[in-house]
Amino acid sequence: MLDYHTRTAHILSRIDALAAISEDATGATITRRFGTPAFVRGRDLVQSWFEAAGLKTHLDGIGNLRGRLASPRPGAKTFVLASHIDTVVNAGKYDGPLGVLMGLNLAESIIQQGIELPFHLELIAFSDEEGVRFHTTYLGSKVVTGAFEPALLQKTDADGITLAQAIKDMGGNAASLAADALPAEEWLGYFELHIEQGPVLWENKVPIALVTAIAGQQRVELTWTGMAGHAGTVPMPMRQDALAAAAEFVLAAEAFALAHGQSLVATVGQLRIPYSASNVIAGQVVHSLDLRSPEASQLAAAYAALQAQAGAIAARRGLGLDWQLVQYTAPVACDRELNRLLGQAIAASGYEVDGLVSGAGHDAVPASAVAPATMAFIRCYKGISHNPLENVEPADVAAALAVAERFLLELKIKHQ
Ligand code: GLV
Ligand code: MN
Ligand code: MN
Repeated sequence: MLDYHTRTAHILSRIDALAAISEDATGATITRRFGTPAFVRGRDLVQSWFEAAGLKTHLDGIGNLRGRLASPRPGAKTFVLASHIDTVVNAGKYDGPLGVLMGLNLAESIIQQGIELPFHLELIAFSDEEGVRFHTTYLGSKVVTGAFEPALLQKTDADGITLAQAIKDMGGNAASLAADALPAEEWLGYFELHIEQGPVLWENKVPIALVTAIAGQQRVELTWTGMAGHAGTVPMPMRQDALAAAAEFVLAAEAFALAHGQSLVATVGQLRIPYSASNVIAGQVVHSLDLRSPEASQLAAAYAALQAQAGAIAARRGLGLDWQLVQYTAPVACDRELNRLLGQAIAASGYEVDGLVSGAGHDAVPASAVAPATMAFIRCYKGISHNPLENVEPADVAAALAVAERFLLELKIKHQ
């Protein structure tokens, strides 16, 4: 077998090849949102690698790439190794693809060594984890875990294209989504390798950690409706400025989260001013709110308090406000037994065993509803993510590859 550093160089060269495929024709940014032609081209490339490795590969109805290494054992269950290959807009290279391509390397190594597993191994490159196009995350893993609600098919993107149409356009099949789920009784477990996307490992100078829990999140879309008007003629006290109201809310949300400790975060990351111009008072503003906490009660309280604050701002300024919850996912705990094995693998590889709570959302969230699920986080440069500056040290990827391989072999022994 090749050593971990050589295997890492191979993984990182694949990461670079995938990162070169983007919606942005100039190649200046990495953007592969769910269902776009660039997403499909990127997935085709990854599919060719799955096939070359010897995995029995197919695309499911929502465009997940699924590669299977079947166990000869009768009645074997399925262990899923996965991450995603869609990206945010102007993304880094590693969020998602690193987990998929490390998983592929692990599967290749098992195949090359002729190791027979007591469980089927399914490697999945999920088609949508980020939710940037339809404002709802985990479309890919919801299908695999049987949690996909057909009503989602009517959601529209910024161009008015429904999810049903987007699936058709990418060559998928909305009619097969229920049948694409792995039935709950067939799951043995779920494991995902991912960059941390935060600064804890970087600050603590630790290459890898196990994940103990994943924060819950609520995404809201707010629409403020005031009165468009002439920027030169309408006196300040007579305005119904939708942008000023939205700005007041953005700062109120920041102040609220700052006042509620480290376990609550609130972000307004997207804001749209229809028909905006420098000499027009904004008549309407539409923006997002992303609220997260590992404590379900804190998340619920923050949601209610911010909704009340938004209502008070709208009433005081004489504006209309529409508040739409677009997504809720509850906080989840990772599986203790898988984490015991993962902790053992980390310790046996010579690293201290740290447990982190993930503030980022991951496909492990829907997976944990049907199977024991856990994740390992890999240190990334200064904790930067959702940013082209995202980076990893090859030595950290090599360390995580060694840990993950040990973990899979421990799992094999456990189920022998
Ligand atoms: C996905 O990266 C998310 O946590 O929003
Ligand atoms: Mn991710
Ligand atoms: Mn992400």
